[in-house]
Amino acid sequence: MDNHPIGVFDSGVGGTSIWKEINALLPHEDTIYLADSKNAPYGERTKEEIVQLSIKNTEFLLGKGCKLIVVACNTATTNAIDYLRTQYQVPFIGIEPAIKPAALQSKSKKVGVLATKGTLSSLLFHSTVGNLAEGIRIYEQVGTGLVPLIESGKANSPETKALLETYLHPMVTAGIDYLVLGCTHYPYLIPLLKEILPAHVQIIDSGEAVARQTKAILEKNELLSNSINLGTHHFITNADVEILKGFFTDGGASLRITYQDF
Ligand code: DGL
Repeated sequence: MDNHPIGVFDSGVGGTSIWKEINALLPHEDTIYLADSKNAPYGERTKEEIVQLSIKNTEFLLGKGCKLIVVACNTATTNAIDYLRTQYQVPFIGIEPAIKPAALQSKSKKVGVLATKGTLSSLLFHSTVGNLAEGIRIYEQVGTGLVPLIESGKANSPETKALLETYLHPMVTAGIDYLVLGCTHYPYLIPLLKEILPAHVQIIDSGEAVARQTKAILEKNELLSNSINLGTHHFITNADVEILKGFFTDGGASLRITYQDF
């Protein structure tokens, strides 16, 4: 048993989509969430920069006593998690585009992946794609500009919709029946994606799987909290507190959301 908090970090607000899944599955766990919005988007940065930012976030969370760290960012996972695991003792949970389940279920054998440049160019992503069943065609698309729009509270704007239409048109025309969301910011685009995609195209993200994996690793390492109360949650952003609050249905009223430069 260990009642220290779970640490979660992302390049910004996107990882809250993962945090919500974790909190739903593990409601008694305390959490600390770091939104490094000041340095977003990570997806346009070099691998070295992504590793350095991931180290900074990890050390901040370890300084707060976190018992496990969820890298709630595909870009940081695919570029930095191997390094983090060699440097720190705590367990790390990462997130990668859920290509495998999409490939297994696809009938058209054509799967679209929308992710950041940093994720799509990573070695980890390429080895995952390389291990897929033969005969699956992957249509990769970099979501340039989407993260800044979501970070500025414009996930549901006409500007975002126009960009998504441009990005999705070629893969839809090619006949995909699954779209994998390879960035934790993108679940916030699902309302627009549903307007744009033909009804038979399924959207897959990895949030639930990450929450299940977090629970399994806490159990395996005997790190689950034994608290009978609901967990307490502290969200720390180095940018706009009000924008972060906007990603919670109650406007973040039940959470502690504060600004800190880190
Ligand atoms: N939310 C992140 C991801 O899952 C990073 C997006 C970015 O900062 O480019 O990839």
